[in-house]
Amino acid sequence: MTRSEQLFEAAQKVLPGGVNSPVRACRAVGTYPRFLEKGRGSRVWDADGKEYIDLICSWGPLLLGHCNETVETAVQEAVKKGLSFGAPTAIEVEMAELVCEMTGVEMVRMVNSGTEAVMSALRLARGATDRSKIIKFAGCYHGHSDSMLVKAGSGALTGGAPDSAGVPAEMAGDTLTADYNDLDSVRRLFEANPGQVAAAIVEPVAANMGVVPPQPGFLQGLRDLCDEFGGLLIFDEVITGFRLAPGGAQEYYGVRADLVTYGKIIGGGMPVGAYGGSRKLMELVAPLGPVYQAGTLSGNPVAMAAGLAQLKTLQSNPSIYAELERRGAMLQEGLRDALKGIPAQVNRVGSILTVFFTEQPVTTYEQAKSSDLERFKHWYLGLLQRGIYAAPSQFEAMFLSAVHTDEEIEQIIRAAREIF
Ligand SMILES: Cc1ncc(COP(=O)(O)O)c(C=O)c1O
Repeated sequence: MTRSEQLFEAAQKVLPGGVNSPVRACRAVGTYPRFLEKGRGSRVWDADGKEYIDLICSWGPLLLGHCNETVETAVQEAVKKGLSFGAPTAIEVEMAELVCEMTGVEMVRMVNSGTEAVMSALRLARGATDRSKIIKFAGCYHGHSDSMLVKAGSGALTGGAPDSAGVPAEMAGDTLTADYNDLDSVRRLFEANPGQVAAAIVEPVAANMGVVPPQPGFLQGLRDLCDEFGGLLIFDEVITGFRLAPGGAQEYYGVRADLVTYGKIIGGGMPVGAYGGSRKLMELVAPLGPVYQAGTLSGNPVAMAAGLAQLKTLQSNPSIYAELERRGAMLQEGLRDALKGIPAQVNRVGSILTVFFTEQPVTTYEQAKSSDLERFKHWYLGLLQRGIYAAPSQFEAMFLSAVHTDEEIEQIIRAAREIF
């Protein structure tokens, strides 16, 4: 038995499924999770000492790789001054100023996770519009708050059914589900619920059904529909924020949302989320306004130090984005070539990619779901065996960082040639 298997056996006695977040359990790929011990740059090592090229990078936060020196030093300095105060600290001001400068939001509120950011932004949208319904897209993930755990009924006009036990039907009923990349489905929901839709929330690049780029005009079309029907547009940039460009998907696609949520990269590997928007909207948040939202550890100085160091590094090295694009394209093209003859689609935006094992191009959730999950399993296990640590589910992304090298990308492409 490997050390990881031993740890997993012990973990299952005291943690549901042996993990603190479900995908990590590797159930979709029929293996046990590798317990990780350390990371450096683009590499991680498991509890048995095996080294891997890391294509998860903590599910996105580590855009500069593991143990980036600037981030590490900033954290060490912050720790020496105290872990938490529950009082305002100077670093929160600096962080908020930088986030506003990079993303174009006028005000921001720090929270502790992407889930919390989305939950709070939805409350703000409802408070600002005095409407209760939310449009989301099937296959988009926005964290695990009640109203976001809803999938489409086929006649999506009538409101959703909960996707998880424990979500009250009344909550789910206020969540309307549209189809990603299908503006008509959004229009129909707005028209069927006149004056009731507080906001439409979208992952500007869907990355939780695997990576599915927005079709040309989709995001602008959403912007226009929200304006026409008086709902707010929320971009959930928990994955795309600071990754596609300093200003995230808003900058990358040139479409502005009313509210934006952040997570992952904004914390540099520490638990941080944030939501922001115009001054007018954000001034509705407590203590200025009637929308209550709070947090004992929000704006935690150690977490802020990590996030601020990472964001500053990104801001002062804009060439990182061109490099991420180049390496992403290199991996995409290499994988396409290596997988010729296999029914596979390599979707990519910038530095996030997914290989879907299906004949047809993937531009919708339905097409993503047509993937051959047995073939994916073979792919995943083949990568793992060859020292490449990728997401253990077809419906996730590969995350490249600024420290993955051309040689590593070639190694991944070589592995792809061998696996099939
Ligand atoms: C787009 C998106 N929104 C929200 C979340 C939830 O973030 P967290 O896991 O930090 O709560 C995720 C997590 O993967 C995400 O990808």
